[in-house]
Amino acid sequence: AMKTEEDANGTSTANGGGVCAEGGVTVLSPTDLSEMLAAGTKEVHEKAENTAFVKDFLKGRIHKELFKLGHVALFFTYSAMEEEIERNKEHPQFAPLYFPHELHRRDALARDLEFFYGEDWQSQIRISPAAQRYADRIRRVGRDQPALLVAHAYTRYMGDLSGGQVLRKVAQRAMKLPPTGEGLNFYQFDGIHSAKAFKQLYRSRMNELELDTHTKRRVVEEANLAFQFNMEIFGELEEVGKTLQDDVLDAAPAHDEMPGDVS
Ligand code: HEM
Repeated sequence: AMKTEEDANGTSTANGGGVCAEGGVTVLSPTDLSEMLAAGTKEVHEKAENTAFVKDFLKGRIHKELFKLGHVALFFTYSAMEEEIERNKEHPQFAPLYFPHELHRRDALARDLEFFYGEDWQSQIRISPAAQRYADRIRRVGRDQPALLVAHAYTRYMGDLSGGQVLRKVAQRAMKLPPTGEGLNFYQFDGIHSAKAFKQLYRSRMNELELDTHTKRRVVEEANLAFQFNMEIFGELEEVGKTLQDDVLDAAPAHDEMPGDVS
């Protein structure tokens, strides 16, 4: 019953093309995992949106060095996540969400890192403490509690599909990256034509998973944890940002208009 409702009623993404969809989620069935996740991460999503790092990024106040370090953290995070996804691709509690061609970001991040750090990028990057904790948690979940892996995939991929295009434009302008997309592969989902349609498919697949109520609640809890891990990485980047000179930071707006408009 839930599945039919979800498929017939696409209203949960009715405003998906716009800016922030706060409050824009129409309740389908409150026991649908997609609805539980959207409602159950609303608060932590707002918290994440309001971190200094994310706010600065949206304003185009992004230091290239921080952007690179952010990509490094993402590389280690997605490497762990996609390894665990591969491990569980046939597990019934994850298999319907296995979309490697459409979603996987590790290779895109590797190409971006090669662009930023050069051919020997792998010898130049190190995992940060927060990224290490995040990756450790993902690995533990993938091995011991695969039903909770969906929480990690949801938090990253659905978020990437929601904000990607805006962030891509901001990053490209702020750091004057080539419009050809070098350094921005992470934001480019070549296997997905409509992010909105894909998100709807992903939601209906999440709702088809056979999970009891208790497990669904644990998934929501795990997603909150995933948001926390992301915020810890933002916090780390903020700290590094304090040690950097402001020159690069102000370079972009000098040529452009004032910073502060987010498109
Ligand atoms: C969804 C904006 C930061 C994770 C969305 C949506 C927007 C949005 C517009 C679309 C909702 C829809 O299609 O119905 C933003 C903005 C952010 C931000 C403006 C920063 C200022 C983040 C962060 C994360 C995240 C840091 C996690 C790492 C998600 C997830 C969804 C989402 C998981 C899917 C929600 C759902 O439909 O269940 N966000 N976001 N977002 N975002 Fe963000």
